[in-house]
Amino acid sequence: MNKRLSELTTKEKIGQLLQIAPFFFIKDLKIEVAGPVRDLHLDEEKIFHAGSVLGIGSPEEMIAVQSAYLKKSRHKIPLLFMADVIHGYKTIFPVPIAMASSFNEKLAFSCARVSAMEASSSGIHVTFSPMADLSRDPRWGRVVESFGEDPYLIAQMTEAMVKGYTNDGIKKDGNIASCVKHFAAYGAAEAGRDYNTVDLSRVSLYNDYLPAYKKALDAGSRLIMTSFNTIDRVPATVNSFLLRKVLREQWHSDAVTISDYDSLKQIISHGVAADMEEVAKRGMIAGLDIEMASSAYANHLEDLIDNGTVSTTLLDEAVSRILDLKEAIGLFDNPFKGASSALEKEIVLSKEHLEASLLAANESLVLLENDGILPLHKNVKIALIGRYSKSRSIVGPWSWHGRRDLHDSLEEVLSDNLVFVSDKANIIDFDLLENEQIKKADVILLAIGETEWQSGEAHSRSELSVPNNQDELLKLREITGKPVVSVLYNGRPLLLENLQKSNALIEAWFLGSMASHAIKNVLFGDINPSGKLPISFPRNVGQIPIYYNHLNTGRPYLGPNDHNEYVSRYLDVENTPLYPFGYGLSYSTFGYKNLVLSDNKVKKDETLFVSVDVENASKVDGQETVLLFIRDLFASISRPVQELKKYKKVLIKGNMTETITFELKKEDLGFYLESGEFITEKGRYQIMVGRSSADYLSLDFDLI
Ligand code: GLC
Repeated sequence: MNKRLSELTTKEKIGQLLQIAPFFFIKDLKIEVAGPVRDLHLDEEKIFHAGSVLGIGSPEEMIAVQSAYLKKSRHKIPLLFMADVIHGYKTIFPVPIAMASSFNEKLAFSCARVSAMEASSSGIHVTFSPMADLSRDPRWGRVVESFGEDPYLIAQMTEAMVKGYTNDGIKKDGNIASCVKHFAAYGAAEAGRDYNTVDLSRVSLYNDYLPAYKKALDAGSRLIMTSFNTIDRVPATVNSFLLRKVLREQWHSDAVTISDYDSLKQIISHGVAADMEEVAKRGMIAGLDIEMASSAYANHLEDLIDNGTVSTTLLDEAVSRILDLKEAIGLFDNPFKGASSALEKEIVLSKEHLEASLLAANESLVLLENDGILPLHKNVKIALIGRYSKSRSIVGPWSWHGRRDLHDSLEEVLSDNLVFVSDKANIIDFDLLENEQIKKADVILLAIGETEWQSGEAHSRSELSVPNNQDELLKLREITGKPVVSVLYNGRPLLLENLQKSNALIEAWFLGSMASHAIKNVLFGDINPSGKLPISFPRNVGQIPIYYNHLNTGRPYLGPNDHNEYVSRYLDVENTPLYPFGYGLSYSTFGYKNLVLSDNKVKKDETLFVSVDVENASKVDGQETVLLFIRDLFASISRPVQELKKYKKVLIKGNMTETITFELKKEDLGFYLESGEFITEKGRYQIMVGRSSADYLSLDFDLI
């Protein structure tokens, strides 16, 4: 047993399981008694037994809280400081759905590195990141925080972020521990409504939703946060299938489990506990270690231990994991690990950090349409119109500590080219006079989209139009006769059949502190856009869920030339999305040819080598992400029509051809049974290599 554990009283052990906000420790508790303290029914003794803190904003605050705590603590076990550092701390990077669009996990690593250094200087030890939730429903607000619809891409991005946070060890200043979330399948909320029921088969869970969490744990995440939803009608927070069978028995993980905010107490609302005593009992028995922002453990676990309902063994196991984590982070050597006002002043929002954010933003936007109007020439006259013309709120949700006041607006970075600016959001706001002003322009640049608060937690939408009919500004093209370039700011796929008619359309997501500079770089061709969509864009809400890695069904619809009536299709819309997974344009012209397999019969323990030639037929150097999909044509269960298994992002110089190679092993071809067992079956496989899920070369081979 951990030596420190043996020295703790039961009350003190239970205290280690409690996570509360910092103000419980440093403000006058009498004031707080009227507020959250009353709601959690925590007296001062329980507060000063707590094990960890949720959220901190500066080294000074951390030092004050830790000092106040240790001064009162008998056991002197320091508080662990955790926070939501999701896509940057103060230097903000592109939101995760944008980062995934880069298909460049090195940028995700860079985002996590900078985030860790800045957060560590504030005394943060753990970040509640990365979010590894697969998301296939753009109505869900948290698509913005996800890496999209593909299990492999999510796993790659998740792994990169964990490695960026932990780097060369979580004991070192400048590195922080990662808490992967939300375990599990939070993104499968029915109807895309946040916190809603999740009802999945085990086969879907194991094959589509769980791999990325496991990848994060294998990469070094030391904590895992449970999700608000149910799995098999049992809330994930008290789900022993997840927390014991999968996490402990199948994955052999010793990660600390932590609830989401108040999610342990919420099992009462879920209808699986009648009172807080039962909440505490179910949490411990299921394997939940830390209770975030509710107090079932703090107020009821001692009685449950005393009357034998909950064994001390379960309590000791949970506390041991937490003490081991504090040891691994180095808190016993230095309770103020990382906190440094001087370092914070030196590195936060530094030139280097902003440059790193810009490099990520440059590769995270996606060119969806371009009739040749882009790139613009340097002295082009621009009429800049729309709600984002002057806005600095361009970083997206989970940017609490971002400094929007320091962000450059699009108006500021384009000032040399502007002949007219208006942040009016609707066509009805325009009168003819302003149209006269616009006539001086060579091009109209629309900067429109969702606000930062129309996506994110608890911000689901039932329809996916560009809000407030902003896309009607496209009518200015007919009114003025000027071409229109549209730049879209959004946290989820939107319905773009109208905006698709723009002369050029850029999916800019929320690109972080340097968003305006990245957009300018692409508009003028200083950066050749290389982003590709990590999630399908539907034609209408009725198609949802729509994703590329779907099953074939017994009556597949083969497309517009398939006139068979009795097939899986709609009467009123295509089955295909408006923009498919992997879609994205470039200023270069890439051509794929000569797909070659090393053999058309491959033994299970052999490697299959795949190569393809990619030609850049333009004179413009450009980065191209080459995607490799497989399909297991005949298996013991129905397999998806496509599964991304490899990708490579390569620079191909103008008028050059590069041969891109991949290696496939049996692990790349297998799948999970409902037991969680992973197998690879012999038989015929299809290899597809191309620019998107809808545009590829293909060859078959037999695994023998
Ligand atoms: C929120 C979110 C979770 C976050 C936690 C702490 O409700 O669901 O992602 O890490 O609470 O802020």
